[in-house]
Amino acid sequence: MIDLRSDTVTRPTKAMRQAMADAEVGDDVYGEDPTVNRLQERAAEMFEKEAALFVPSGSMGNQIAVKLHTNIGDEIIIEERGHIFNYELAGTSFISGVMVRPVQSADGSGHLTWKEISEALHSDVPYYSLMTGLICLENTHNFAGGSIMSADHCKEICDNAHDLNLPVHMDGARIFNAAAAAGSSVADLTRKCDTVQFCLSKGLGAPVGSILLGSADLIKEARVWRKRLGGGMRQAGVIAAAGIVALERSPGLLHADHANARRLAEGIAELRGISIDVEKVVTNIVIFNIAETGKSSAEICEALKNEGILAIGFGDSIRMVTHFDVSQEDVNTTLSHFRAILN
Ligand SMILES: Cc1ncc(COP(=O)(O)O)c(C=O)c1O
Repeated sequence: MIDLRSDTVTRPTKAMRQAMADAEVGDDVYGEDPTVNRLQERAAEMFEKEAALFVPSGSMGNQIAVKLHTNIGDEIIIEERGHIFNYELAGTSFISGVMVRPVQSADGSGHLTWKEISEALHSDVPYYSLMTGLICLENTHNFAGGSIMSADHCKEICDNAHDLNLPVHMDGARIFNAAAAAGSSVADLTRKCDTVQFCLSKGLGAPVGSILLGSADLIKEARVWRKRLGGGMRQAGVIAAAGIVALERSPGLLHADHANARRLAEGIAELRGISIDVEKVVTNIVIFNIAETGKSSAEICEALKNEGILAIGFGDSIRMVTHFDVSQEDVNTTLSHFRAILN
């Protein structure tokens, strides 16, 4: 199978498996797992934040962040296709009792301007029952096709938000992809964010886990929420060990995934009835419109599946994601089957 559904499908490398087998462990709920501690320290160092917490998933990292920053009855602002709003099973209302105010990014990039955010802010006026409590950003933006928010753009939003005493959380599930493509450090891309979540288990290829970063005080509180939500793991060093390998070795490999995504997009752009803006494919996510092909996305995905290729269809769009289990040859194979399906 050539699995292009997501970059979450990667299998741990030999080096990760070896590190897992050899991992020194302890009880992480007591903070005594040396491998988890090493992973957290290394992540905090890379992002130049005070502290880090290993959590089982990106969703848990994001949801803990929302909980840390908000009070019940607050409103949070997020771009309308954001993961926290659409794909975390209403966790924000269930766990934090907040309402999401989704805002459209007029340029389609998935990255709101400060003007767009400021127009959606609610302050303490009698006819609004909700106060804005948090701004959530996403870099890269998954459903906007892996688009990048620049360090300057992020800084401008954070500076303006902080002037109003509003915190900013970054869902940086794929922040290392953004860093590789933008030629910026992950620290620069998230410099002023109050909390950052990034995934070890996406492009970086680790089997499990995410990291939540922030000030020492916030991460201390996050540790309590992680336990409360059932995310206190014991000898978690076994999986953190793979995370360390991912953190050290994988960022330098992401350029290859981006090049494969661009190649895939260029080939797809030549197929009958497909519309895609190739220039917008800057990281590892390729989203294209199939409305003019005469087939539905479900029909195309089924036909691809019959040829051993997995992709995700939604509405008139299909998403394909490259990762380190997808080779240049896999891209060529995908394109030739895709061409045959549409002819
Ligand atoms: C942008 C973004 N944020 C958060 C997540 C959640 O990560 P997890 O699947 O580890 O909960 C995902 C998962 O696909 C994602 O794409």
